[in-house]
Amino acid sequence: MKKIFVIVIVLTGFVFIALMNSCKVSQKVSMKTGAQLWAENCQRCHNTPSPSSFSPQQWETVGLHMQTRALLTDEERNKIVEFLKQ
Ligand code: HEC
Repeated sequence: MKKIFVIVIVLTGFVFIALMNSCKVSQKVSMKTGAQLWAENCQRCHNTPSPSSFSPQQWETVGLHMQTRALLTDEERNKIVEFLKQ
């Protein structure tokens, strides 16, 4: 009976550690800056366009257009567009 108790505790510990680590990963993604996301995502298919290539209004449109191509979340797109508008 005692053995089962110990096994359950150990397994719960593993699940807890796994959950903690999965949280860490998603935190990392949300902590990335627009510049990082831009460098990682926007050069897969073409050269990274520089912030000065387009006006702020044009970047809004490009962001929507490229979000569907690069499969970005809304948060990632907003960060990239904010970076490109500067
Ligand atoms: C999956 C491939 C792919 C990814 C990833 C991608 N693009 Fe593009 N991009 C294209 C293609 C293809 C075109 C040209 C055809 C078109 O306009 O749809 C293009 C065109 C553009 C243009 C020209 C203007 C326009 O809207 O047509 C800009 C600026 C641009 N991309 C910026 C970006 C930025 C910024 C990112 C990162 C968020 C990005 N792209 C990620 C494929 C991609």
